[in-house]
Amino acid sequence: MRTIPVGLLGLGNVGAGVVRLLADNDAAIGARLGASIEIRAAAVRDAHKPRQATLDRARLTTDPAALCADPEIRVVVEVMGGAEPARTLLLQAIAAGKHVVTANKHVLAEHGDEIFAAAAAARVNVYYEAAVCGGLPIIRALREGLASDRIQEVAGIVNGTSNFILTAMTDEGRPFDEVLRAAQAAGYAEADPSFDVDGIDACHKLTLLARLSFGVRLRPGQILCDGIRPITPADLALAARFGYVVKPLAIADDDGQGVLARVHPALVPARDPLASCAGTMNAIKVTSAALGQSLYQGRGAGMMPTAVAVVADLIEVCRDLPEARAVRGAAGRAVPAPGPPPSPSRPLRDPGDLECRYYLRFAAADRPGVLAQVTRVLGEHEISIWQLIQEGAPAPGSPAAVVVVTHPARERRVRSALALIDRLPVIAHPTLLLRIQAQGQVTGACPGVML
Ligand code: NAP
Ligand code: HSE
Repeated sequence: MRTIPVGLLGLGNVGAGVVRLLADNDAAIGARLGASIEIRAAAVRDAHKPRQATLDRARLTTDPAALCADPEIRVVVEVMGGAEPARTLLLQAIAAGKHVVTANKHVLAEHGDEIFAAAAAARVNVYYEAAVCGGLPIIRALREGLASDRIQEVAGIVNGTSNFILTAMTDEGRPFDEVLRAAQAAGYAEADPSFDVDGIDACHKLTLLARLSFGVRLRPGQILCDGIRPITPADLALAARFGYVVKPLAIADDDGQGVLARVHPALVPARDPLASCAGTMNAIKVTSAALGQSLYQGRGAGMMPTAVAVVADLIEVCRDLPEARAVRGAAGRAVPAPGPPPSPSRPLRDPGDLECRYYLRFAAADRPGVLAQVTRVLGEHEISIWQLIQEGAPAPGSPAAVVVVTHPARERRVRSALALIDRLPVIAHPTLLLRIQAQGQVTGACPGVML
């Protein structure tokens, strides 16, 4: 059987999983592809540190540029992470005529236009299934399965680490810091875990989903982005009393006027399928005009789930190489298929236009007249209260938690009200704002250009 030499940029969690999966499934992959995939070289920072990967040390290099330029290497797989030097190396590999596979949403969110354009010019492919939702094949679903339909909304859980943390805090009452350390030890978290817990990683992924779904070129800074840090076990318990589960969501929808993209934790009704998506599982609900709602769920982080997506891309990209085509006696896919085709960008909507119910937790002094001050400001902003709970102050002199669930209200009014309320002397800390994600929030027709 012919061998296709491949270069790995990075041999950490995901790289080690790729090496293991290729070894474990070598025969099956050979049968499917008509050729065997061989890791010819792997670039790392430190060639001497102990590794999970069972790759001959002689194949390690600390010169990733030389790997990208090596004429024998046919495909470069980038699993190092970060914007640089990943961007430069991907462009070098593409310029050298190599197809590339990457799990790196950060580099694609910030430099996708440049990388996809370079690939189109060089007539090579860029595959990136693992960059969004790990092993869950959502990129293929959007790019191929739904290519005939008009997408109205993508909404789901795209960060495994923050879902893992909220699940453990809800189900086991474990503290945030302890669960984050467990996520890091298990290899789920980003090198800088603030990317996970502050919503940055989900914003990177949402730029890729929105690009495929709506043709928009979102900059990460154009997405409303709240992380999960301020959520306490008490919020999770209170949410449960109202019939909700708190989930880290990423949502982009096109209502016909434009696209609104947001990443934030939200209260999801307990009966919603997203509510039961637990641990490192990811799930995405896609609403499209002809199909209606479809749900995609799978493991979104971790060595082997992510390796499944990387190696599937690798097999797909190798099918276009003459080595595989000659053996299979069939033509490969049309080259190039470098990611989303260019399309006119849809306008973006202001997140202030968002309308939903809100869960607001005020840290209020426990004395007469305080509630009246808070509710007066809410009323002046036309924010109507649906339910209200006050938990007594845990100790004399400390603030009480007053939780208000509102009727549907406009985001910009809620933010203006909180700006005033948080300046009241009776309010001890900034108010926690969580949105409530109702089912079927997409309404109206969505005319316009779609991919
Ligand atoms: P990781 O464990 O930190 O591994 C990164 C690897 O890249 C290491 O082997 C490191 O070398 C190497 N590296 C980093 N900078 C380098 C440089 N400048 N030159 C040479 N080598 C360099 O990261 P990971 O968890 O495998 O994640 C890799 C990518 O996959 C990231 O883009 C991540 O967002 C993405 N991803 C991860 C998961 C997951 O569950 N972990 C899931 C989906 C996508 P050393 O080993 O010598 O330090
Ligand atoms: N840190 C990421 C997560 C890895 O937890 O979802 C998968 O992209």
